[in-house]
Amino acid sequence: MIYLDNAATSWPKPPGVIEAMVAFMRDVGANPGRSGHRRSIEAARLVYGAREAVARLFNVPDPLRVTFGPNATEALNLALRGLLRPGDGVVTGGMEHNSVMRPLRALERQGVAVTVVRCAPDGSLDPAAVEAALRPETRMIVLNHASNVVGTLAELAEVGRIARQRGLLFLVDAAQTGGAVPLDVQADGVDLLAFTGHKSLYGPTGTGGLIVGERVDLARFEPLTRGGTGSRSEREEQPDFLPDVFESGTPNVVGLAGLAAGVRWVMERSVAAIRAHEEGLTRQLIAGLRAIPGVAVYGGLDAARQTAVVSFNVAGLEPSEVGLRLDEDWGIMCRVGLHCAPAAHHTMGTFPAGAVRLSMGAFTTAADMDAAVAAARELAGRGG
Ligand SMILES: Cc1ncc(COP(=O)(O)O)c(C=O)c1O
Repeated sequence: MIYLDNAATSWPKPPGVIEAMVAFMRDVGANPGRSGHRRSIEAARLVYGAREAVARLFNVPDPLRVTFGPNATEALNLALRGLLRPGDGVVTGGMEHNSVMRPLRALERQGVAVTVVRCAPDGSLDPAAVEAALRPETRMIVLNHASNVVGTLAELAEVGRIARQRGLLFLVDAAQTGGAVPLDVQADGVDLLAFTGHKSLYGPTGTGGLIVGERVDLARFEPLTRGGTGSRSEREEQPDFLPDVFESGTPNVVGLAGLAAGVRWVMERSVAAIRAHEEGLTRQLIAGLRAIPGVAVYGGLDAARQTAVVSFNVAGLEPSEVGLRLDEDWGIMCRVGLHCAPAAHHTMGTFPAGAVRLSMGAFTTAADMDAAVAAARELAGRGG
């Protein structure tokens, strides 16, 4: 069995992640911040530990600016729907995931002006084109740090600089890069960072969140939900401070215990070391696939400028057929189709059939890459 679907969710998880979750369920099990007893205090300590770990990873000066939710999708919805109003403008790129495009299209129907800047077919986006698309009503730029289809990395620091210069908010979808590529919210000029816990942070599904920078005006930032926070319980109005304003209801403490262990595991290895490992695998896979007649490989084809995600097609075979054969004949698990990113496939010229995506993680080996290339070669032989 070869798991090459880490861009969907990483597998396996480090043993410490599972142990931390079991330990919480077995030894703590209480609701954080609600009751004053020792187990409740321990649960709150675990949640705060997760905030501290995420803050350290992304160089966030104050852990209370790390707010937790179920995934990157909700974090992106919170930032977009919570900050943009009719009459505002927002600029994005042509490689976005539907977790950005769907809320944006809904906001467009409510009077928000949405501008999508064209990317090159390899997924790259020229920061100067972003700057040229800004209008007087533009309030926000939203971009993914890396495409989930071809891994192409955005020039974050340059776009962040433009956003600062123009007094705009910069929202970054780091679903594909958090833990896999160095990311520093201060150096990169990021105001809002949506992250997910279950991919390269090696936590469980059901964890993620939004980092809220100091330039964001909380007075204009509407939460998606309101309710019990364990704080200011004498009031019927939502607390107006971070993180409580965005964290109503009992949090996923068991998930956050696992997330904290996952982030610590990443930092013990270092993001740079994980990145070097994944870059090597990506280089190997791109070279192997490109050498096969009848195989088209998409993206920039430069491992140094993309994440560990490689999409390809085999001439004469539908992506779904390739995915089925990889699974059934070689035990290789991948993802085929449009990857929740129709905009990216339009940009790449692979809409509507999509492509076959292989995505690596910290546990993927060079032997896995050899096996994937050998399987693709045999399939290309069959397809032709
Ligand atoms: C680029 C990108 N953005 C957002 C998401 C959404 O992440 P989640 O499913 O954790 O909400 C994904 C997940 O695949 C993604 O790849």
